[in-house]
Amino acid sequence: MTAATARAFPNIALVKYWGKRDEELILPVAGSLSLTLDILPTTTTVSLAPEAEADRFELNGREATGESLRRVAAFLDLVRSLAGSQTPAFVRSRNEAPTGAGLASSASGFAALATAAAAAYGLDLDARGLSRLARRGSGSASRSIVPGVAVWHAGDGDETSFAEAVAAPEMHMVIVTVDAGEKPVSSRVAMRRTALTSPFAEAWPRTTEESLAEMISACEAGDFTRIGRITETHALRMHALIQSADPPIRYLTPRSVAVFDAVAELRERGVEAYATADAGPNVVVLVQSADAEAVAARMEEFGRVQIAKPGPGVELLEGDA
Ligand code: PMV
Repeated sequence: MTAATARAFPNIALVKYWGKRDEELILPVAGSLSLTLDILPTTTTVSLAPEAEADRFELNGREATGESLRRVAAFLDLVRSLAGSQTPAFVRSRNEAPTGAGLASSASGFAALATAAAAAYGLDLDARGLSRLARRGSGSASRSIVPGVAVWHAGDGDETSFAEAVAAPEMHMVIVTVDAGEKPVSSRVAMRRTALTSPFAEAWPRTTEESLAEMISACEAGDFTRIGRITETHALRMHALIQSADPPIRYLTPRSVAVFDAVAELRERGVEAYATADAGPNVVVLVQSADAEAVAARMEEFGRVQIAKPGPGVELLEGDA
């Protein structure tokens, strides 16, 4: 095959990934767990271009340059080294989520790119192999290979650090986009700064592994309340850690905090809703399906609201992106 198209969906972590123990291999300091969504996918076509001088990358109809082209080309270098190829490629990508706004566009992006590039360059990878490959583009992308709830194991090394499915009860997510702009500090830079400067960084890997073990047992038990509590606590711990870097980084805005407050108020009224946020100001509310519409209606004053269900894993598609 000389061209292949893949589609992947974003995932939102319930136990967050924050920090690498190996920057080159993208091995995390702890495992994490997420829900892959059924909205805001990235669809990517990789076409081998033997005549071209260098890789090209087009995102949402615009030719990319600078850092985003560099990251895609570096990822293609990795795929080429595995495939024994030197052929450049043309990558065309359509991303339905706002890029770089903390809505996991790098997760869907690198999961789709890994899968399309592996097929185009003729690498024969199973889901575990694709998860390991996607991880090298962006850590959280390892989880977007998997449908529904996925655990990404920290692993002992490259071979054992991959994501796989976990049985879990039915959950929905209400995505509250309070600000669709690009975040000021990338998660890559922020993770490094946190690890180097926060006095709390030392406690993070152990406490995250504890939260992960509790989360997996709550998922297996189908205990939504425990899943929700761990989700909100772990998200706020991650933001506390990030804020404790020097110089500090604060992703949550007053509006994000207002959403967390509104979610706490819903709980006081007996609605089971729990908030989380990635490296950006937007907030995602975890609910059971029966509550999704009512919670979404309550969130409308804070920004654009979308309801997501558990989504599929990455898929190869016919045709172009
Ligand atoms: O995969 P990256 O490098 O974009 O890191 C994502 C980190 C968080 O979204 C903040 C947390 C997570 O587990 O997805």
